[in-house]
Amino acid sequence: MDLYKNSGLTIGEQEAKGIVSWKSPSNIALIKYWGKHGKQLPLNPSISFTLSQAYTQTTIEYKPKRKSSSKIDIDFYFEGQKKPTFARRIVKYFEELKDIFPFLPQLSFEINSDNSFPHSSGIASSASSMSSLALCLCSIERDIFKKEMETEAFLQKASYVARLGSGSASRSIHPKVALWGNTNGMEESSDLFSIPMKSVLHDVFRKFHDDILIVSKKAKSISSSEGHAIMSGHRFKDGRILQANKRLHILIKALKNGKLEKFGNIVEEEALTLHSLMMSSNPSYLLMEPNTLQIIMEIQEFRKNSKIPVYFSLDAGPNVHVLYPDSVAVEVNDFINSRLLKYCKDREYIKDYMGSGPKELDF
Ligand code: DP6
Repeated sequence: MDLYKNSGLTIGEQEAKGIVSWKSPSNIALIKYWGKHGKQLPLNPSISFTLSQAYTQTTIEYKPKRKSSSKIDIDFYFEGQKKPTFARRIVKYFEELKDIFPFLPQLSFEINSDNSFPHSSGIASSASSMSSLALCLCSIERDIFKKEMETEAFLQKASYVARLGSGSASRSIHPKVALWGNTNGMEESSDLFSIPMKSVLHDVFRKFHDDILIVSKKAKSISSSEGHAIMSGHRFKDGRILQANKRLHILIKALKNGKLEKFGNIVEEEALTLHSLMMSSNPSYLLMEPNTLQIIMEIQEFRKNSKIPVYFSLDAGPNVHVLYPDSVAVEVNDFINSRLLKYCKDREYIKDYMGSGPKELDF
């Protein structure tokens, strides 16, 4: 099903000049998306907490192209600097979106993008950057064609478009918790876009922290896209799909019923499973570093001794996400400062927490 195939909207007499801007956050997957097929479709459903402090702000100024051609015309600036390599990636992305937004080749774009977190912090920015870009495109369509859309439909389309840029970006569109991928027993779920899941949240999870400990700032040896590709021939692929589906249901139940310990167990198992899949793939590879393991072991020991509910998660990289409820924020802060910062590159970490989703900015 091509939900958003060719809107048929091209620019005729309309005023096609303007500026749009969105600030969109990163997210941390609790059940991981790992492996894809077809056109950016996930092998298994995933669920994430939407973050708040790690975000990308993208501003697009658009005007009619001087000379008509089918080529995409983009000038891209990242943190004020012209970046031709990023521009080429965005041109490719816009090319793929011509079916959804047939007016793209009629315009020229100046895109400015900034991250709230240091560029070289090793923090994956594709979720925040691609979701902010997708939201800007949906706003441009709305503004040029005076398209009236319910917020829900607008966000669904933005999630669909974001997914085509980066799978995890499809989840950054919604506040607090988002689910992406067909899920048994959840009619509204889809492989094509994410859905908001905020109503499943028990009070225990209402204000949840995610401090991101920067273990390394180096570029990863294997990108997420390469990692997904390796999953299609993985010897544990079928088992992994079954496992992710099963864990997802247990996790949703834990989120609903306020079962922190259950939540923490599943989240940690998922993080370690993600990295075990990398280690057991062909070719095999390792993205954790010695300090990643040091931090994990410190967290487990601290939790055992103090009974404080603090858990870890990992993305496809060495940095560690420290997850905990607001009720233990003081204790966990002390613990991070006294025991964990020594394992962080330049003692750096990002204090983040569950957020209320993307915001459109006025100009
Ligand atoms: C481990 O969304 O970055 O963070 O779709 O190729 O852009 P592409 O991959 P990406 O993969 C994210 C993988 C993950 C798990 C997750 O966020 O669910």
